[in-house]
Amino acid sequence: MISKSTIDQVYETARLEEVIGDFVQLKKAGSNFKGLSPFSDERSPSFMVSPVKQIWKDFSSGKGGNVVAFLMEHEHFTYPEAIKYLAKKYNIEIEETEQSNEQKEQQNKRESLYLVSEFASKYFQETLHNTDPGKAIGLSYFKERGFTTETIKKFSLGYSLDQWSAFTDHALKKGYNLEFLEETGLTIVKENKQFDRFKGRVMFPIQSMSGRVLGFGGRILTNDKKAAKYLNSPESDIYHKSKVLYGIFHAKQSIAKEDNCYLVEGYTDVIQFYQTGIKNVVSSSGTALTSDQIRLINRLTKNITVLFDGDAAGMRASLRGIDLILEQGMNVKVCTFPEGEDPDSFAKSNTLEELSLYLEQNAKDFIQFKASVLYESAKNDPIKKAETIRDIVNSIAKIPDRIKTEIYIQECARIMDISEEVLFSTLAQLTKKEQVEASKQTQTSQKAFDVIKHQQPVKKVDVQYELERKIIEILLLYGNRTEDFEDLVLKENDKGQLELEPVIQQAKVFEKIFLDLQEDEMEFLNPQFKAIYYSIIDALNQNPDFKIESLINTIDPILASEITSILMEDERYALADWERNNIFPKSKIDTVAQLVSETILTLRCFLIDQKVTQFQQNTLQNKTEVNKDILEEVKDYSGLKMLLSRKLNRAL
Ligand code: CTP
Ligand code: MN
Repeated sequence: MISKSTIDQVYETARLEEVIGDFVQLKKAGSNFKGLSPFSDERSPSFMVSPVKQIWKDFSSGKGGNVVAFLMEHEHFTYPEAIKYLAKKYNIEIEETEQSNEQKEQQNKRESLYLVSEFASKYFQETLHNTDPGKAIGLSYFKERGFTTETIKKFSLGYSLDQWSAFTDHALKKGYNLEFLEETGLTIVKENKQFDRFKGRVMFPIQSMSGRVLGFGGRILTNDKKAAKYLNSPESDIYHKSKVLYGIFHAKQSIAKEDNCYLVEGYTDVIQFYQTGIKNVVSSSGTALTSDQIRLINRLTKNITVLFDGDAAGMRASLRGIDLILEQGMNVKVCTFPEGEDPDSFAKSNTLEELSLYLEQNAKDFIQFKASVLYESAKNDPIKKAETIRDIVNSIAKIPDRIKTEIYIQECARIMDISEEVLFSTLAQLTKKEQVEASKQTQTSQKAFDVIKHQQPVKKVDVQYELERKIIEILLLYGNRTEDFEDLVLKENDKGQLELEPVIQQAKVFEKIFLDLQEDEMEFLNPQFKAIYYSIIDALNQNPDFKIESLINTIDPILASEITSILMEDERYALADWERNNIFPKSKIDTVAQLVSETILTLRCFLIDQKVTQFQQNTLQNKTEVNKDILEEVKDYSGLKMLLSRKLNRAL
């Protein structure tokens, strides 16, 4: 267990905007930062980070919370994982309270998979640098490929001995569980025997965006045609190959800074580029590019440059994957290398200046590139040419931006020597087809909606919900402030008539709310608001100096997320540039006491209305002679309501 003081220190030190900035490209927006939601595909930013409040809110998915909640949502960390990550980032020493064996067992499986992968990575590095076969075989191989020691260490490259179970035996001896060795694929279990999957290979650990080892690629060193050149870890609870990009951990900062990402095919391409000095480079590691991978990049930049090996066959296949990039509204360039070269070999034999110049001069806009390549291969064959045109227009149709679409159509008309009209009408056909498909879907969903609409009357604003939420908001923002509350009490005047007279009482906001609600025996209907309400009241009762902002760090994450919705209300409106002033008083601070009185009075009135309606309904249904007691009670309530309304008018 991580000690309480370590956790406190982490919260005190961590800067939310810095932590999130490692994953999402944030732009300053007034006193906040905003960016594209990392939890959904979107084109206009709805993700807000408040450095002042140290909370974030994603208005497209509704998620929100503090720095730990972000890591838990985004990196799928457990709570201790998130704390450890932050401690590492801010050089905070972790103080652990001793774990019992039982607790050790309880540690969840994913954590164990991470641990065993991290251990394996360390072991393979150790073997590479500090054993004779490691140095003679593994290290000399990497050196031959031109990697410096610094690069080898940066990418945590390693070597797995050419023995059947050297790694597995060592890991078991160190107490790692066979179950997890097998699940991560590091060990293959067959008929009660255990083998190292990566026997005799040089190792490339695959890291997550935050630097955790998820899996491995292992390259064979012999020229055995029957064995695969690269072996990769199988899918596991921590390794999903369609969701990771090799090199993203080392590249992310520079991708955001350069506002461009180079996409290559292999592990060695990434490493060689990085070593040459181009650090904004990642690889899909031989698999077809997926939307999830593109989304990882999309959070950091809108621009991708795809680098193709010199052989054209692979290129044609990759052209398809690029449509996925266009679909996400990104700008795609492509660059090919001379025959027989791949990014690795080219970077190895050129300086940074030469490489940069080459990329600059040879990177072409994708649509133009596709048009010219396809056109070249089809220009003398009318049937093929028609196909080609359709193919290109198909790609153009993926681009969400209308203006760009138009420019591309003009450009392609020129390259392919065909009229713009034809291209536009082909585009229109394609779009129409898509629209018909789409409308088929909405038609059915609209019908379903109609049925619901007829069954249920239009949903009224849930007044009670809004008022409960308002009370929570007031508590969160002003709970431990002391205010002068004006209360109206009934007093007999000189002439013996009852009159409302103002009495000023000083109280803490939270006490005032608590006492008033208690007086009415009012309970929150919404279970989450109720839980938050009691957390705040308890915390303040125990410690009057309790900082309400820190509540979010101690409370159940679901409640914390609810709180961020309330606290980030202003940011939401800022996001849409809505005029907030006509919804709430200009300055909340001036009128806290009024706000409190007004909210509680409104709630009281509402509850009384409900009571009266209830009585009326009961009477109607029973059709029995009207009970005198009930009439009396309705009368009492009506009188109370009038009184409250008068108070409310005063308060407003
Ligand atoms: N790959 C793979 N399995 C294979 C071959 C390739 O997973 N059997 C993946 C690897 O991620 C590799 C990438 O596809 O890095 C590109 O393959 P290739 O171009 O053949 O390899 P290079 O990266 O050029 O490797 P090397 O230079 O070491 O030969
Ligand atoms: Mn290569």
